Amino acid sequence: MRKKIVAGNWKMNNDLEAGKKLAQEVLDKATGNEEAQIVLGTPFIHLTALAETVVGKKGIEVAAQNCSDKASGAYTGETSAEMIKSTGVNYVILGHSERREYFNETNAELAAKLDLALANGLTPIFCCGEPLEIREADTQYDYVKQQLTESLFHLSDEDFAKIVIAYEPIWAIGTGKTATSAQAQEMHAELRSHLASKFGQAAADACPILYGGSCKPSNAKEIFEGADVDGGLIGGASLNADDFLAIVNSF
Ligand code: PGA
Repeated sequence: MRKKIVAGNWKMNNDLEAGKKLAQEVLDKATGNEEAQIVLGTPFIHLTALAETVVGKKGIEVAAQNCSDKASGAYTGETSAEMIKSTGVNYVILGHSERREYFNETNAELAAKLDLALANGLTPIFCCGEPLEIREADTQYDYVKQQLTESLFHLSDEDFAKIVIAYEPIWAIGTGKTATSAQAQEMHAELRSHLASKFGQAAADACPILYGGSCKPSNAKEIFEGADVDGGLIGGASLNADDFLAIVNSF
């Protein structure tokens, strides 16, 4: 059975105190017997504190939301995968559409980030997804498969086995508009067969593929019913502990 994962993506929300409070509330309200692995994706400033207070407790993990595509050196303002790992967290979200769009991250840069994350023992949650015009042109499968090909297909079988994928149609992020469960399932199945063409069926079958985009307690159950949908990457609804945990337990 594939691992089920529900990851929160706080984006650029919560100062240090607010973030510690929210993470503590998730920890307090979690039972430890959740239906999915809980991951909290936070700004860099929270990582050290949360590594001490929540990582590993009731199975909760914490993710950074980005890392540098360089290992170290004169790159003012950047944070390396090695630095993230040194805080004690184990995950990193890479290639979110907001980073691709506002910070011009390319598939090639993301390949370098993935390599550094993996080399430093971080589990990458690799995001992919198409903008509205691509969906309207009905070329979304080729578009998203190309993102995977250009960023992941250089990985060894051993490294591929460590990654998590999150499919997030850009038109569904923060818009209140979700993909239908059929649209999500269809894309996830397409992506899994694309991964199988490179890494083999067994490896593709073992790779968790999460859905993201306006996922909330009221629609999570239906979306997670898709056979190839293994959880979610949750933005807005992850800022409320009750809503987030309701989604975690939606399977
Ligand atoms: P949303 O964001 O749940 O607020 O739509 C999802 C994401 O961007 O990861």
